[in-house]
Amino acid sequence: MVPKISTLSGYLHEYQKSIVHPEIFWERIAESFHWRKPWEKVLEWDFNKPEVKWFVGGKLNITENIFERHACMKGDTPAIIWEPNDPSEPHKIFTYKQLWDEVNKFANVLKSLGVKKGDRITIYLPMIPELAIAMLASARIGAIHSIVFAGFSAKALAERNNDAQSKILITADGSFRGPKTIPLKQTADEALHMSGSIEKVIVVKRTGQQVRMKEGRDLWWHELMKNAATECKAETMDAEDPLFILYTSGSTGKPKGILHTTGGYMIYAAYTFRNVFQYTDGDIYFCAADIGWITGHSYIIYGPLLEGATTLMFEGIPTYPKPDRYWQIIEKFKVNQFYTSPTAIRSLLAQGEEWADKYDMPSLKVLGTVGEPINEEAWHWYHNHVGKGRCPIVDTWWQTETGGIMISPLAGITPTKPAYATLPLPGIRPVIMDADGKPLKGNNVEGSLCIEFPWPGMARTVWGDHQRYKEVYFTAYPGKYFTGDGVKRDEDGYYRILGRIDDVINVSGHRLGTAEIENAINEHPLVAESAVVGYPHPIKGQGIYAFVVAPARPGNLDEELRNSIRQGVAKLISPIAKPDKIQFVSGLPKTRSGKIMRRILRKIVAGSSDYGDTSTLTNPGIVNEIQKGFEALKDG
Ligand code: PRX
Repeated sequence: MVPKISTLSGYLHEYQKSIVHPEIFWERIAESFHWRKPWEKVLEWDFNKPEVKWFVGGKLNITENIFERHACMKGDTPAIIWEPNDPSEPHKIFTYKQLWDEVNKFANVLKSLGVKKGDRITIYLPMIPELAIAMLASARIGAIHSIVFAGFSAKALAERNNDAQSKILITADGSFRGPKTIPLKQTADEALHMSGSIEKVIVVKRTGQQVRMKEGRDLWWHELMKNAATECKAETMDAEDPLFILYTSGSTGKPKGILHTTGGYMIYAAYTFRNVFQYTDGDIYFCAADIGWITGHSYIIYGPLLEGATTLMFEGIPTYPKPDRYWQIIEKFKVNQFYTSPTAIRSLLAQGEEWADKYDMPSLKVLGTVGEPINEEAWHWYHNHVGKGRCPIVDTWWQTETGGIMISPLAGITPTKPAYATLPLPGIRPVIMDADGKPLKGNNVEGSLCIEFPWPGMARTVWGDHQRYKEVYFTAYPGKYFTGDGVKRDEDGYYRILGRIDDVINVSGHRLGTAEIENAINEHPLVAESAVVGYPHPIKGQGIYAFVVAPARPGNLDEELRNSIRQGVAKLISPIAKPDKIQFVSGLPKTRSGKIMRRILRKIVAGSSDYGDTSTLTNPGIVNEIQKGFEALKDG
């Protein structure tokens, strides 16, 4: 197990050590794991190139660190507790030994289909145990998994298949989500028309609905698994061999395939899990995210399983059948640590206090939040009504690119402050930059959040496009990793994340690029152009506001056109990217070089009339028109 910090002075001491001697610090943590061959050098790095390598020359397999490493002590300990969407369906428990057998079996299936080390596998599954099994089996044989959230559209799935040149797609006949049954295989079939590299499709039977199985290409999971052997030797991986790709949105262009490697990610996920949540052996830990996002990768699967923990995986939604589903699950399994998003908290808060107040939840020790800033009201509600005033809240700041939690309290150790992610974890060196690119020293400062020293869990590149990795993360502030977030350091040296400062919006904790949504809107035959900005939304944190130029639209059919634009976006990206508000405008504020001034649009939707300098606009009159239209839409 990784070393566990248990006091505030212990944290301060470890932090200090990690800054003065980072290599010795991380080496000590890496020594808790099983390496087939030890590393020759702890760290090689150059943020200008950029290039980062941890545990150079070390050889290992991450699943060996989950299964073989825990076999003796934890074989019969529950590894995964799976709770289905419908509470009347029985839950399932997989002990470490049982999960290991399933992973080995599926690893053998993949091998029998010709999958080799370095091949890419796309996993497009709902939150069912096969999702965990598939990702671990992929890691077992050295294949690279690319998990695509099951809420993404056929087009989005195809784009990801093509970019990764995946050989295998793993999906299900359908999925259950609250009262709905979703035809997942049908969406996968649509994507497969556009995904040339996929050779085989493995289909899990979940809903039992009718699906089309293409002869020679589509295979049933249960049939493949029937005779698969339960022994499969883990592939030897270099510490810097890729473990997975996970696509995420940025300011420009298509989603990027963020690449994480094996050794550094492993120790970072495990170390941060154990310390932030203060996990004690025997605890039941429940993270309510989806494995389709980084939170699920690091804190449903890898972090907890590497630490021999019991992790709860939930298929459904918090409001089904009633808005007390989370609280019911917490009582049913005596959950000790619960981790969710501020959006989930706000939406449950909006359902009324009585739902959480009915449950005592005495087992709870720690509450966590992730994915977006938490407002003080939601923080206090979570603290009082869920934690009953006795559970520390860890507000964890991190990103797909960081691999694990970066700034966060250690539960029960770091004194918390509502809406503050508080202090950096050991090994993390945040630096706040001003508009001129200078670091802001001292406290009571606000600026762009950068990290000035590498950490083991950081992404190593963008799949197939290292140049883009350099441009996006290492160019704005040379020699530093730029997060894209604004931040404040208060008088106590505590960090408060202020939100994205680039053209990324964070809707319900999901990251979406404005350019991506605009491209989807512009595909509509009646749309000439559009501009998308985020606006404050009481539940989702940020909502999506689209300004749309559609000069030839029929005058009395605005609502129909809005719906059809929304449907188009859902089809091209995902229902999560549908604009909440659509305002038709005759033009967009543009500079002489034709660039849309989103800054002005952001001000309008935030209700401010302080637009700054508009003299560089080719069409300054448009601002007034847009402002009036905004007021009318708001009141209407
Ligand atoms: O803006 C920050 C916000 O989510 C972004 C990262 O999104 P993603 O890569 O999808 O990963 C989400 C889960 C780790 C960040 O750039 N964010 C994440 N955590 C917090 C946060 N904003 C404020 N407070 C947080 N605790």
